[in-house]
Amino acid sequence: MTNTTEGGAGGATTTLADLEQRAAARRERPAYGQDALITCDRLVRIFTADGVEVQALQGLDLLVAKGELMALVGASGSGKSTLLNILAGLDVPTAGAASVGGYDLLDMDAKSRLRYRREVVGFVWQQTARNLLPYLTAAQNVVLPMQLSGRDGFRAKRLHAARATELLTMLGVGYCHDRHPGQMSGGEQQRTAIAVALANSPSLVLADEPTGELDSATGEQVFAAFRTANEELGTTVVVVTHDHAVADAVRRTVAIRDGRTASEVLRHTEIDEHGQESVVAREYATVDRAGRLQLPRDYTAALSIENRVLLELESDHIGVWPDRPAPPEQD
Ligand SMILES: Nc1ncnc2c1ncn2[C@@H]1O[C@H](COP(=O)(O)OP(=O)(O)OP(=O)(O)O)[C@@H](O)[C@H]1O
Ligand SMILES: [Mg+2]
Repeated sequence: MTNTTEGGAGGATTTLADLEQRAAARRERPAYGQDALITCDRLVRIFTADGVEVQALQGLDLLVAKGELMALVGASGSGKSTLLNILAGLDVPTAGAASVGGYDLLDMDAKSRLRYRREVVGFVWQQTARNLLPYLTAAQNVVLPMQLSGRDGFRAKRLHAARATELLTMLGVGYCHDRHPGQMSGGEQQRTAIAVALANSPSLVLADEPTGELDSATGEQVFAAFRTANEELGTTVVVVTHDHAVADAVRRTVAIRDGRTASEVLRHTEIDEHGQESVVAREYATVDRAGRLQLPRDYTAALSIENRVLLELESDHIGVWPDRPAPPEQD
C-alpha cells in the first residue's frame, strides 16, 4: 500500500503558496446550484404516521436550471409528490436545503410563504376538479389569483381580464372563456388550470400527474400547453408523470427511487449524414454530492452484486467489478 501526500508537484512538501492557491481555488468555485432556479441539497422529509416513521425523501439532490421543461418519474411511493409539495411551498422538509429563485423553502415566514405561493410558483393538480372553482368561468378562474395578489381598481381589472384572455388563447382554450368547468372537457379544464397557474407570471410551474385522468390524445394536448408556456413565456416547468409519452417528449427526465434522484435521461436531436433528424436519448446515473451513485437493479442482479464491489480507476472511466473470492495463490 502506498501513502500519497496531498501536495504540489513532488508530493511531500506543501508550501504556503500552494495552500494560498488552493484556498483561492476553493473561494472561486461556484457554490452548489448557484445558477439553478431550483436547488435541493440532501433534502430529507420524514413523515410520522401512527408512530411509524416513513422517510419519503432520503437526501435528495436536484438542480433545475431556469427555463427547463423537465419530467419527474418513479415508482409509486418513491417521493415525487412529497418533493413537489415542498417545492410548491405547501410542505416543509425535515432537513437539508431547498431553494427556488432565491427563496429558502426551509426558512420562510408566513408572509413570504404566501408571496412565494402566489407569485413565484404555480401548481396544477391531477384532479381536474381541484384546479378550478366550479362556480366561476374559465376567465374568472384565471383572474382570481391576479386579484388576490395585485392591485384593485378599474385599470387593474382591465389588465387582468386582458391577461386572462391572452393566456387562454395561447393555450388553445380561448373558446372556453365564458364557460364554467362543468361545461368543459377534462383536457380543457387542465389547459385552463395551466392558465390559472401562469396568471401571476410565476418563474416555476409544477404539475403532479396533470394528464393522469385523461386519455392519451387529450393528455398530449395538455402537455403541448405546458410546452407552449415554457417556450413562449420562458417559465420553468416540472411535471410528475407516469405517462411515457410525456416523459419521452422532454429534454430531461429525472427518475426518483426510494426518496433520492437515481438516474436521468437526457435527449437531444441529431441530424445524420442524410439530413434525417432523430432524437437520441442517453441514460445517466446520478452522482450525489458525497460521490454516491445508485447502480440499476437489473445491472446488480445480472452480476449477482450484493453488498460490495471492487472499483478501478482508469484514465477515462471507473470499472465496477463484483466482489469475487480471489483465486487461490499457486505455490
Ligand atoms: N402525509 C403523509 N403522512 C405519512 N406518510 C406519507 C405522507 N405523504 C406521503 N407519505 C409516504 O411517503 C412516501 C412517498 O409518498 P409520495 O406521495 O411522495 O409518493 P409518490 O412518488 O408521489 O407516489 P405516487 O406515484 O403513488 O403518487 C410513501 O411511502 C407515502 O406513503
Ligand atoms: Mg404522487
